[in-house]
Amino acid sequence: VRLEVVNTVAELRRAVSRARQGGRTIGLVPTMGALHAGHASLIRAARQETGCVVVSIFVNPTQFGPSEDFTRYPRTWDDDLGVCVSEGVDVVFAPGAEKVYPPGFVTQVEVTRLQDVLEGASRPGHFRGVATVVAKLFNMVQPDIAYFGQKDAQQALIIRQMVRDLNWSIELRICPTVRELDGLALSSRNRYLSPRERQHATCLFRALQRAEAMVASGERDAARVRRAMVEIIEKTPDAALDYAELVDHETLEPVTIVWGEVLAALAVRFGNTRLIDNSVLQG
Ligand code: PAF
Repeated sequence: VRLEVVNTVAELRRAVSRARQGGRTIGLVPTMGALHAGHASLIRAARQETGCVVVSIFVNPTQFGPSEDFTRYPRTWDDDLGVCVSEGVDVVFAPGAEKVYPPGFVTQVEVTRLQDVLEGASRPGHFRGVATVVAKLFNMVQPDIAYFGQKDAQQALIIRQMVRDLNWSIELRICPTVRELDGLALSSRNRYLSPRERQHATCLFRALQRAEAMVASGERDAARVRRAMVEIIEKTPDAALDYAELVDHETLEPVTIVWGEVLAALAVRFGNTRLIDNSVLQG
């Protein structure tokens, strides 16, 4: 089967209903392009359990703040198509912004509480943009299963809450973070880093490893674990801490004791580049 590239919802619907009529289930991997091995792992997971894999490629303007990197966000269309061909994707859906947000568009999806902490506190409006576009993609594609990365842990929780609250019968798969050999989590934004920043960017992974080691050796005081993470970031040249938090892995509320599953999440800036990473600590 050949890869089909579609740009309109009508073409997408035709491609998806053909697949359904042929008895195939639909897997959706939503992306903003600049595909890397993390995306490829989502596509492979989709390939394994669904008959028709749809990858959406849309750099969604509404999830970027006014001073964020929307205009310089990497757009690597030819490489992205290459990845989709070699990973056996069936349909690439690449709509223009005017198709997603036609004049007069006003509806927004807000997942309150979960959207306001961590990334949401640093990036006001970000998750309203994410939830709204993912809701639209779910309705446009109507997948059986949708795939997201654990790298964006808060995004995954928000989408899970949205699916539950809005009664979609879509199953979600949250796939493990894919890392470089030195531990740096794959992200489309890694390509902004200078060689020197790239070296220092391992501080996020090192901080998480330190947190894991402390908890594994019996530390239960969240403040002490957090302080150790902060120290690692503060010792790193070029790195500016945005936040490092230990929170409940479902509600994202701060914890004082590491008990059960606790999400350690952090965001660090290198110049204009903002990186995030996380780990679920087993207390
Ligand atoms: O994770 C992303 O790449 C984006 O937030 C998503 C889910 C494709 C929505 O634009």
